[in-house]
Amino acid sequence: MKNKKRILILPGDGIGPEVSSIAKELLILLDQKYSLDLDISEGLIGGKAYDETGDPLPKETLNMARDSHAILLGAVGGPKWDDLPSQKRPEKGLLGIRSEFDFFANLRPAILSKELVSASSLKNEKVSDLDLLIVRELTGGIYFGEPRGEVEGSDEVLNTMIYSRKEIIRIGRVAFEAAKGRKGELCSVDKANVLEVSSFWREVMTELSSDYPEVNLSHMLVDNAAMQLVREPKQFDVMVTGNLFGDILSDVAAMLTGSIGMLPSASLNKTKKGLYEPVHGSAPDIAGENKANPLASILSVAMMMRYTFEKDEIALSIEKAVELVLAEGERTQDIAKENETTLGTREMGRKVLLTMESI
Ligand code: IPM
Ligand code: MG
Repeated sequence: MKNKKRILILPGDGIGPEVSSIAKELLILLDQKYSLDLDISEGLIGGKAYDETGDPLPKETLNMARDSHAILLGAVGGPKWDDLPSQKRPEKGLLGIRSEFDFFANLRPAILSKELVSASSLKNEKVSDLDLLIVRELTGGIYFGEPRGEVEGSDEVLNTMIYSRKEIIRIGRVAFEAAKGRKGELCSVDKANVLEVSSFWREVMTELSSDYPEVNLSHMLVDNAAMQLVREPKQFDVMVTGNLFGDILSDVAAMLTGSIGMLPSASLNKTKKGLYEPVHGSAPDIAGENKANPLASILSVAMMMRYTFEKDEIALSIEKAVELVLAEGERTQDIAKENETTLGTREMGRKVLLTMESI
């Protein structure tokens, strides 16, 4: 019992349950194939948790998460819960779990599969072989800064963007280490021409760079970074940025790869416990229709194998299976060309699982 690898699945809302059920099947297959000794459980989060318990992050979910080594999340949110007060909104469930376990290091790779070059909205030569990693600070900045909310007795509402040296250093180290293991290029993104918190961010990153002589650190303003990402994305290898800028830039980077439906993410704390989730949201417009792309969720399982369980070879075989299925021409609707036949969520999931069994 003690050595079991405990995984908590939180399917959440919208397409979350559909893509998570494929990821669960994959975990069961991995457990058998590689004798991983997994213990998989499921819990409530987001709008579904609110509907059933009145809380988007119930205590029971937190307790289960505390007992787990890794958490796999589907997605949260949807129009049904849009009018709830901010404390009850589904997003609070996700933000709460990130904060509770200090999952400060959010890794969002944007890798363009060779098979999907034409799915990108940019020209082939601009994006072919794109392999970019965004390291986003996830538990600080304006998302969590206090004071926040209505200012009593006035007609104003405020949020606070705040970073401590400690927070910048710890995310900086994750990014420098990642850059060291790749091309040795790190671009730190801020808004230092306007925001004091950004000047401080830049100063601390620059200080930290002396610990990493093998990494070439550059800085870029966030508006320029957004533009450069769509102009010449291959100039970047690893980018590091704060919570809000990372939220925005990672969506831009995701689209370079053709579909946000392809991209996984990992959010880690210092013990390597991790929350793994597709970058895509709950996509309420296609929820329950068997149309969602399950590949981001499948690739999130690969990241889980790599970062929390240190099983790089399993991660590689999942990534290879996805690549093989794409090479066979299988597509979900989000990555298909016009008039191409497409597979549903379950069918795409099954293709990947069958391929996993055979490699
Ligand atoms: C993301 C999402 C979340 C965020 C929302 C759902 C709270 O957009 O993971 O990028 O803003 O961090
Ligand atoms: Mg986002």
